[in-house]
Amino acid sequence: MAQILVTGGLGFIGSHTVVELIQAGHEPIIVDNLSNSTASVLDGIEKISGKRPTFERVDLKVKAEVRDFFSRYTTLEGIIHFAAFKAVGESVQKPLEYYENNLGSLVYILQEMRDLQIDKLIFSSSCTVYGEADELPITENSPVKAAISPYGNTKQIGEEVIKDAIEAHGFNSISLRYFNPIGAHPSAEIGESPLGVPLNLVPYVTQTAAGVREQLAVFGDDYETRDGTNERDYIHVVDVAKAHVVALDRLLKGQNQGNYEVFNLGTGKGSTVLEVIQSFEKVSNSKLNYKIVERRHGDVTAAYADTTKANQVLGWKSEKTLDDAMVDAWRWEKKIRKIN
Ligand code: WQD
Repeated sequence: MAQILVTGGLGFIGSHTVVELIQAGHEPIIVDNLSNSTASVLDGIEKISGKRPTFERVDLKVKAEVRDFFSRYTTLEGIIHFAAFKAVGESVQKPLEYYENNLGSLVYILQEMRDLQIDKLIFSSSCTVYGEADELPITENSPVKAAISPYGNTKQIGEEVIKDAIEAHGFNSISLRYFNPIGAHPSAEIGESPLGVPLNLVPYVTQTAAGVREQLAVFGDDYETRDGTNERDYIHVVDVAKAHVVALDRLLKGQNQGNYEVFNLGTGKGSTVLEVIQSFEKVSNSKLNYKIVERRHGDVTAAYADTTKANQVLGWKSEKTLDDAMVDAWRWEKKIRKIN
């Protein structure tokens, strides 16, 4: 049982991780600025876990707000840092906001860790740090390439900032490089609810099926893949959440090997865009309205994880399938759109 700060804890992956932390007996303290989430997510967390975690609205890119928060929470044993803007395409349009938000918040968190001797940090990183990998599946030793987007760059720089802070101040940190988290909690009490037009594939699929969007645009079918559409490693968000509890416990028990570790969080299986659509059509017994359009700038052809290190060193393995995730994503969409 540990009191853990979860920044961005009302977001998609953050909220699912808060549920798993509570169910593992920890006490998560959520801070979130509600830029891409709503406080009503707390109701869903409470319905699932039976507990309503402490939540404070804090803008982590405002140093004074960060200092104030930490002056009032003096028994934190670790931090899971999700809070960040995460839309690849948007980051190309608004790079300065992405650098200010994603890096500013990280630096202020690390300064508090230094000053208050909090020495356990789980960092939300991303497979986007690998860019277009030379070899597949992608291992943690695959070269980190020049970022294709400012978003990916904030994750690359974020990892470097943490390593430098560790060098100087002796923290223990684990970076988890997510592939493509999708789906929703099977209870349909929490899920992915992006504000505005979804930038990611799966919420766009379910919103199209729910009639919220007219038609899904598939960004290109002329890639070097089995059906011409991009390939990604789609991993159920509950599997991703559980990995965070395993990684946190690893730090709490001092089982980490070295004070900076990196793990890929994926299933190890690649699925193309058309295969995701076929999975959805199968589990929903419906036909999805989509059309092939031109490629989206910044998309890599294929990315899926080598999960050996996470399985053998971290001791975690994904359990749910693409179909499981599509069932849960669709159940969640129908719930929020009041479709029976
Ligand atoms: C997936 C595929 C698109 C929308 C995401 C996150 C990023 C990072 C990695 C965590 C691509 C295609 C999409 C649409 C489409 N995760 N697509 N029509 O780009 O892999 O990045 O995972 O850090 O934060 O954004 O995910 O869901 O945007 O795209 O055809 O309307 O679906 O071309 O091939 P991506 P995505």
